[in-house]
Amino acid sequence: MWVGRAPLAAAVSNAGGLGTLTALTQPSPDALRAEIERCRALTNLPFAVNLTILPAASPPPYRKYAEAIVESGIRIVETAGNHPAEITDLFLRQGLKIVHKCTSVRHALSAQKRGVSAVSIDGFECAGHPGEDDIPGLILIPAAARALDIPVIASGGIADGRGMAAALALGADGVNMGTRFMLTREAPLHDEVKAALASASERDTALIFRPLRNTARVFRNRTAQEVLALEGRPGGAEFEALRPLVAGARGRAALESGQTDDGLIWAGMCLGLIDDVPSCAELIERMVRECRERIALVQARLCEGAERP
Ligand SMILES: Cc1cc2nc3c(=O)[nH]c(=O)nc-3n(C[C@H](O)[C@H](O)[C@H](O)COP(=O)(O)O)c2cc1C
Repeated sequence: MWVGRAPLAAAVSNAGGLGTLTALTQPSPDALRAEIERCRALTNLPFAVNLTILPAASPPPYRKYAEAIVESGIRIVETAGNHPAEITDLFLRQGLKIVHKCTSVRHALSAQKRGVSAVSIDGFECAGHPGEDDIPGLILIPAAARALDIPVIASGGIADGRGMAAALALGADGVNMGTRFMLTREAPLHDEVKAALASASERDTALIFRPLRNTARVFRNRTAQEVLALEGRPGGAEFEALRPLVAGARGRAALESGQTDDGLIWAGMCLGLIDDVPSCAELIERMVRECRERIALVQARLCEGAERP
C-alpha cells in the first residue's frame, strides 16, 4: 500500500523480478487503469497487480477494481486477505494467473482447491498482516511446500541472498519481498523514512491490532507506540479510538513527508538485515549472486569440511 506504484513495480520487473502494483493505492478503478498504463510505459516485461480484500466499514469497490485489472490485460494478479468467489472466478474465467497470499497452510490449501496458480505464504516475520497463528517461516514454508501441489512463494523476513537460499532449501519455488523493496532507490518514499528504516534493527517492529484479531506488523515508531498504549489500557481500545492514529491517509503522509513518527509504517522484522538503499537492479543482482554463493558454500562445507560460510 502506497509503495507499489509504477516506478517501483517497473524497476523490479526490469531487474528480473515480478514487480507488483497495489490496486488500492490508486483512489479509483480508473486511476488504477492509468497506473497500469504508466507501468507499461516503463517496462515491456510482465508485472502483477495486488488486490487486497479486507473487511471494512465502507469497503472500496473491489469488483470494479478487479474489472479494471482484467480489462487492462493484466495476466498475473496477487490476491490477499479474503478471496470472494465472485472475484476469484472472474479472474479465473478470464484466464489470469492468481497468486494468493495467505498466512496458513489451511488457507493455502483452500486457495489451491479454488484453482489459484501459486500461493505466496507469509510467515510471522512479515510486514503487514501475519495472521493470528504466529508461525514463523522456518516452519510455515516447509509445511506449505509439503502440503501443496502448486508453486509456493516464501514471503516474510527475506531481505538478502542468505534468506533466499534458505527459502529455496525449505522447499519454496521463489521469494516475495515487501520491506526490502521499500529500501530501494525507486521506492516512492521520503529519504528520511528510508534512512530511519535502514538504521532500524530486527527488534524495531511492533504488532498492533492483536486484540482486534487483525494483527499488523509495523515499524515501532511513535504512532505505533501510541496505538500499543491505547490497546494496553484496562478494557482495551475500540477501533474507533484508534482510527485517527491508524488512518491510511496519515501513514501515506508520513511516508511522503518524511515525518517518520507521524503515521503507521508497515515494516517487517527483516529491517534488521537491511542497511542500504540500492537500486532494484543492484539489489536483485546481488541477492541472486549471494544466494548462489551461499548454496555453493554450504555444499562445500558439508562435502569438503570447508570453513563456516
Ligand atoms: C509498506 C508495505 C505495504 C504493504 N501493503 C500490502 C498490501 O496493501 N497488501 C498486501 O497484500 N500486502 C501488503 N504488504 C505485505 C507485503 O506484500 C509482503 O507480504 C510482506 O511485506 C512480506 O514480508 P517482508 O516485508 O518481510 O518482506 C505490505 C508491506 C509493506 C512493507
